Amino acid sequence: MTTRILTGITTTGTPHLGNYAGAIRPAIVASRSPEADSFYFLADYHALIKCDDPARIQRSRLEIAATWLALGLDVNKATFYRQSDIPEIPELCWLLTCVAGKGLLNRAHAYKASVDKNVEQGEDPDAGVTMGLFSYPVLMAADILMFNAHKVPVGRDQIQHVEMARDIGQRFNHLFGAGKELFTLPEAVIEEEVATLPGLDGRKMSKSYDNTIPLFGTAKQLKDAIARIVTDSKLPGEPKDADGSHLFTLYQAFASQAQQAEFRAELEGGLAWGEAKNRLYQLLEGELGEARERYNALIAKPADLEDILLAGAAKARKIATPFLGELREAVGLRSFREQVQVAGSEKKKAAKSARIVSFRDDDGSFRFRLLDAAGEQLLLSKAFTDGKGAGQASKALQSGAELDVRVEGLAFSVWLADEAIGASPAFADAAALDAAIVRLHEALAPQE
Ligand code: TRP
Repeated sequence: MTTRILTGITTTGTPHLGNYAGAIRPAIVASRSPEADSFYFLADYHALIKCDDPARIQRSRLEIAATWLALGLDVNKATFYRQSDIPEIPELCWLLTCVAGKGLLNRAHAYKASVDKNVEQGEDPDAGVTMGLFSYPVLMAADILMFNAHKVPVGRDQIQHVEMARDIGQRFNHLFGAGKELFTLPEAVIEEEVATLPGLDGRKMSKSYDNTIPLFGTAKQLKDAIARIVTDSKLPGEPKDADGSHLFTLYQAFASQAQQAEFRAELEGGLAWGEAKNRLYQLLEGELGEARERYNALIAKPADLEDILLAGAAKARKIATPFLGELREAVGLRSFREQVQVAGSEKKKAAKSARIVSFRDDDGSFRFRLLDAAGEQLLLSKAFTDGKGAGQASKALQSGAELDVRVEGLAFSVWLADEAIGASPAFADAAALDAAIVRLHEALAPQE
């Protein structure tokens, strides 16, 4: 069984080395595994919560898209898209907003931090807090649940959000799933080894500390940034404490075991800091030099990037559109057509409450059930690999064409074009079987 891995990147900044080591690189490696079905997206709706500078949003989306592609993300294998190209996401966000507890969201770290700060400063607790900030975790839950992700690689600061997505998904399942898991409950995954990279000053590398090393700056920018890495004042020849030095930690994140051991020995043997910085520069240039060229080529052709992202969105929506249809159905946002058509004779009344319920199976396949007026299952479809196949089969069944029903023992199956597309449960006796077949015909009878 494949594992669906999903993660989003907020498009407010330019990716730096910390993003690369902590998120981008492991994500790209993971996406290559044959068992992985990866969904990576630009969280540009989330970006609007944090940033009201349109030029910066636009620039950041472009840079982040180019970064992932330059670093080798294979868009034929992974699904790579912009959140804002998937209208199903904000729609799902609303469905989830209607079940998410306000108390749950009150506990979100980001919101609480803003409130605490306001209180400390004697301001109104909600001063400057937008509904976007408050509802941030619900939008994130929609991102995740929309695609039934199993694993969500994130930084530590996002674990709580993934847990909230679980909570909200679980509540929705409970309220609307009728015993069935509509949503897969996601799990956060943290890359333990290099989850956070230290910045120039030794604190976590982060734009807000202004201590980052650029990922695709020029070679000179890379060199200058490395020159600013803070070290202790040990002189050349004095032994250095490798483990106590974040320069070494940075080196470790990109070096093989053998390179690490060698660098450690050299530092302990008194290598000068200036020389140590040069080693780090060589290492990073080796890791990033080629990708930087690809990056510059991509940035120079934004229209090509646009096409790639739109193709990614189309791929994502093949899943999102039918799934949102099921969810709308589940909460009661259903077409009037069925009911209007069946208002009429007694027989049609019987058909009225017979219904088809689509769902996704644990293995990700698409199925539907046909339930009779009393809610008894008449038919369980076979497993379809996509929602479209399931949709076509259920449509064909309801088309009013003559049914090909084949009885076997105390059960029946329904055939379409030489293929059994669904089967009944086993009935207690022949009379029950016959009665069920009558109800099957009633349920699927053509309606004027
Ligand atoms: N909030 C995440 C961050 O700031 C970005 C994000 C948005 C995300 N939607 C997501 C991450 C869904 C994982 C899954 O890092």
